[in-house]
Amino acid sequence: MRFKLSSGKEIPVEMHKARMVQKVFLVPAKERAEAMKGAGYNTFLLKTKDIFLDMLTDSGVNAMSDHQMAGFIDTDDAYAGSRTFYEFADAVQDVLGYKYVMNVHQGRAAEHLLAKTFIKNGDVVATNYHFTTTRVHIDLMSGGPACLELYTDDALKTDSQVLFKGNMSPDRLKDTIKKYGKEKMAYVRMEASTNLIGGQPFSMANYKEITKIAKDLGILTVLDGSLICENAYMIKEREKGYENKTVAEIVKELCSLVDIYYMSGRKNTCCRGGCIATNNKELFDRISPWLPAYEGFYTYGGMSQREVGMMAVGMREMTDPEVAGCSVEQVRYFVGRLKDEGIPVVTPPGALGCHIDARKFAPHIPKEGYIAGAVTAALYIASGIRAMERGTVSMERNPDGSEAYADVELTRIAVPRRVYTMSQLEYAVDRVAWLHKNRELIGGLTWKEEPPVLRFFVGKLDPINDWGTKLAAAFKKDFGDKI
Ligand code: F0G
Repeated sequence: MRFKLSSGKEIPVEMHKARMVQKVFLVPAKERAEAMKGAGYNTFLLKTKDIFLDMLTDSGVNAMSDHQMAGFIDTDDAYAGSRTFYEFADAVQDVLGYKYVMNVHQGRAAEHLLAKTFIKNGDVVATNYHFTTTRVHIDLMSGGPACLELYTDDALKTDSQVLFKGNMSPDRLKDTIKKYGKEKMAYVRMEASTNLIGGQPFSMANYKEITKIAKDLGILTVLDGSLICENAYMIKEREKGYENKTVAEIVKELCSLVDIYYMSGRKNTCCRGGCIATNNKELFDRISPWLPAYEGFYTYGGMSQREVGMMAVGMREMTDPEVAGCSVEQVRYFVGRLKDEGIPVVTPPGALGCHIDARKFAPHIPKEGYIAGAVTAALYIASGIRAMERGTVSMERNPDGSEAYADVELTRIAVPRRVYTMSQLEYAVDRVAWLHKNRELIGGLTWKEEPPVLRFFVGKLDPINDWGTKLAAAFKKDFGDKI
């Protein structure tokens, strides 16, 4: 919740208290530089023993509530017909408004099943923007690049006042349908709080317009609701006509306008899992036969019943504005503080984290030097904070093997829900500002080991010279050798 202080300044105040904690450690800069080298300048390959604040992602690392922990214990372990699954299905019906639901082990499993069921060779999918795993599944089923991103002109402007950069362009959608023909359009996919462009929401008005265009032509509509509650929270805050609706009402309205809904449970429901839901029995019956082949029997879908139990409680809690808004409010504060320090960050602040515009942060690094990858590695060396590269390293190469440079080069500092405190955010602000002052020390990266698909997960890079060691030495000079 945002509280106004007597000075007039507004700050997010946590509406929860910590009753269980995990100790974290900060290893000195010299050791961080060595750890980064050992990890191939890829923050995914760091070990948590070397990490102070783990801000890689907001996925699967959120703090659970006491009621969720109770849901973990109060479960019915059964391969089939578990009471816990039916409690989850009731929560889906109450919160999302869907009659039919199946669990899957996480969001990308839902993407796999949807692509497998609905995409034929040569089909295309229209989306506001891709997510990494979404695109891979779509392209694999279609047999080539098939994920068409129909964002608006504002989407890629990092420093902006536009409130709904996650919108899809209705004109571009109409042109695309004309170009490919509706038979080739496997589905139209809207992603809530569009992840890769900085957690930016779409508006209800745009979403209504897009889903209507598709529905009028009989094209299937799909909502990726992995970040639905934050999108709903921002609609309530930013869109005229929604200020008096609750987050719960907005979530239900969003769900009512698409044929198929899916989500990763690792974000909004603060557990590990996922689901696909619909009110259309025919669609459900087309997807569900694949479930046992890839995930498991339909009353667990690859999840443990304990996770299903936690997801059922998380589903009922996620539309509480204190839960839906906890990361939005911290991200807003974080972005505001970084702006105060003159750091180029994606604005307006969105969901899931703060995004540094790495091109503006380190303009001396050429695009061939994987700018966001370099800034992300440098941030770890300067702070012990693990962020994530969301730029060219996170892209797939073009079919001819040439590099596909990302639209935006972002270093994403995720803010997991109910995990980090305001003083930890202030520490992050200070170290990002220090790095910005010393940005000339950051150099580029080059591939050392590059996997053929989703290379950002386990690929290794080399710094073009020993800039990591020099950066650690500069840090030591300013702060001493203990941190
Ligand atoms: N869709 C969106 C919008 C996502 O942000 C993610 C995951 C997925 C689908 C896939 O879900 O991880 O459960 O398989 N995003 C995580 C992130 C990984 O760090 O942003 P998953």
